[in-house]
Amino acid sequence: MKTVLITGANKSIGFETARQLLQEGYFVYLGSRDEQKGQQAVSQLQAEGLTNVEPIEIDVDNIESIKAAREVLGRKTQALDVLINNAGISGSMPQTALEADISVFRQVLETNFFGVIEVTQAFIDLLKQSPEPRIVNVTSGLGSLTLHSDPTWKYYAVKPASYVASKAALNAYTIMLAHDLRDSSFKVNAVDPGYTATDFNHHSGPGTVPDAAARVVKAAVLGPDGPTGQFFSDDNVPETGISPW
Ligand SMILES: NC(=O)c1ccc[n+]([C@@H]2O[C@H](COP(=O)([O-])OP(=O)(O)OC[C@H]3O[C@@H](n4cnc5c(N)ncnc54)[C@H](OP(=O)(O)O)[C@@H]3O)[C@@H](O)[C@H]2O)c1
Repeated sequence: MKTVLITGANKSIGFETARQLLQEGYFVYLGSRDEQKGQQAVSQLQAEGLTNVEPIEIDVDNIESIKAAREVLGRKTQALDVLINNAGISGSMPQTALEADISVFRQVLETNFFGVIEVTQAFIDLLKQSPEPRIVNVTSGLGSLTLHSDPTWKYYAVKPASYVASKAALNAYTIMLAHDLRDSSFKVNAVDPGYTATDFNHHSGPGTVPDAAARVVKAAVLGPDGPTGQFFSDDNVPETGISPW
């Protein structure tokens, strides 16, 4: 049975991604920074008959927590098939480039960018034990510098400066990581789940959580001929599903 670790999976898109991958037959390690919330989420899935799931405490802002989660997982499995870096924050608003407090930039970058790097580096050895490892970085369409510099783009005016910078940086890291792992069976991709109604945006998004999670799942279950080093966004580029960086 294939294994997957999803960060920030106690609710919203991460939680629904866990549910859909369980339905696909994966064993899910459901990451949550809060032990109780993780356990509650697991109980909910188990009540639905989805039993191949365990909570794992992991705060991506905290290297000691990441290391502890790596140790715990190493005792449970020899290999990790999929890592989904989903945990993310928007940071307090408004976030203009000139006026956003530097502490907001630091906090948002910590979770959305540095956290992803630390988690990826901590789990890469377990991923390398999988015959077909997959890394999915949950980004945002707002992280596309090409689109964000196009005044005709539908989200052109949406510019939360620290969040955009964090996802653009995450996109850059995705390209670097895919390059490092190019001569292997890894697939490393960035996925924009689309503007989705969750707590993240006070449920303002038009998209649904199942649709958002399905986009993440698609990149998690890519076959050997699937792409690597891509930025998937059905929301922004419905024609091809591939976004410019
Ligand atoms: N919703 C959208 O419209 C949208 C659009 C594009 C991209 N995204 C991206 O999709 C991902 C999921 O978003 P969402 O809408 O599901 O957000 P959400 O409802 O706010 O859920 C975020 C999840 O991340 C967790 N998290 C936050 N900081 C963490 C940390 N330091 N360590 C571990 N977990 C942490 C949260 O845990 P707690 O419950 O403990 O806070 C929660 O489980 C994010 O990366 C976001 O940037 C969302």
